[in-house]
Amino acid sequence: MKKNILIVPGDGIGQEVTEVGKKVLEKIAEKFGHEFTYDEALIGHVAIEATGNPLPDETLEKMRASDAVLFGAVGHPKYDNDPSAKVRPEQGLLKMRKELGLYANLRPIKLFDELLEASSIKPEILKGSDILFFRELTGDIYFGEKGRKNDGDTAYDIAEYSRFEVERIARKAFDAARTRRKKLCSVDKANVLETSRLWREVVQQLAPEYPDVEVEHMFVDSAAMMLIKDPRRFDVVVTANLFGDILTDEASQIAGSMGMLASASIGDSTGVYEPIHGSAHDITGKGIANPLASVLSAALLLDISFGLKEESDTIIAAVDKLLKDGFRTRDIADASTPENMILNTQAAGEELLKRI
Ligand code: NAI
Ligand code: MG
Repeated sequence: MKKNILIVPGDGIGQEVTEVGKKVLEKIAEKFGHEFTYDEALIGHVAIEATGNPLPDETLEKMRASDAVLFGAVGHPKYDNDPSAKVRPEQGLLKMRKELGLYANLRPIKLFDELLEASSIKPEILKGSDILFFRELTGDIYFGEKGRKNDGDTAYDIAEYSRFEVERIARKAFDAARTRRKKLCSVDKANVLETSRLWREVVQQLAPEYPDVEVEHMFVDSAAMMLIKDPRRFDVVVTANLFGDILTDEASQIAGSMGMLASASIGDSTGVYEPIHGSAHDITGKGIANPLASVLSAALLLDISFGLKEESDTIIAAVDKLLKDGFRTRDIADASTPENMILNTQAAGEELLKRI
């Protein structure tokens, strides 16, 4: 198969982990006889530094022209503590999602057996957890009007959803539930928010079209509690942009670490595959970031954008083997991990390649 993949590492550990993700794609191409070509583009802080724009037109054009995008992360401490900054790395991320129509963000919360002990949640609560989140990605409070009034003393962010936006993400989630354990949990805050009342109304209206899927509605505060109390009760979860952002960082603890969670953003055109984590300033440059979220994002890319299920499964099996062989990165190591089994980013990548 001939495909053109755009590599967009972005900032911080995005650079470090995406390098490993790309090597994994190269190894897969070699093993299975595919012809993948690669191009690279800038986004975020590095793009601002080079061009003044967090999402240069050239990057967007390359994204549109490619068959899939492997993305890292954006963000730099310089902006996080400067509320007055007008140009910010995250603007590039949001604009990319909007421009490419990436309305569905799939976040599989997959717990590798070997990491049962790495989580701060008790193993007997965790064992067998397997959740697929559908986070809506191009609407909600992230994209509504925002600003200041009263001479800057009052700030506002408007949350908005249309019926159309809710329906298209809900349908994706219903369809996915059909291929899994046939349970869909729709998370909202319909007791308080009007956008959530529309959300619930739309999901309720669609439900009769999917009689084989058992639908449950849950308030987001309760869902946050239930994720930790009883993660196994969830199969597919569908939720709004903001709730999904927060709940999936929480759910990363089911999988052991932020460094283990991959995501696929899909919609109207090219799919974008990225770790759920950010640029992690606290560990940038130390070479200790866990590259597995990027590697598992590459696996999602092969499966979803190219239909290469066997290749994708090969990557997941290699990750499983790496963990079974006892190797860990710092974030997923525990007190029982021998120091010589704790690998840096590059070494973890090399051990993984050997197992593909
Ligand atoms: P973060 O996700 O970058 O890091 C949170 C914590 O998890 C940190 O302690 C970090 O060291 C750890 N962590 C994350 N990924 C890891 C990995 N692969 N291996 C080991 N440990 C890992 O979130 P934080 O610190 O809140 O934000 C840092 C920057 O990233 C900010 O500028 C923020 O705006 C940006 N950000 C960007 C995102 C994106 O590009 N999709 C998503 C979230 C945050
Ligand atoms: Mg987040």
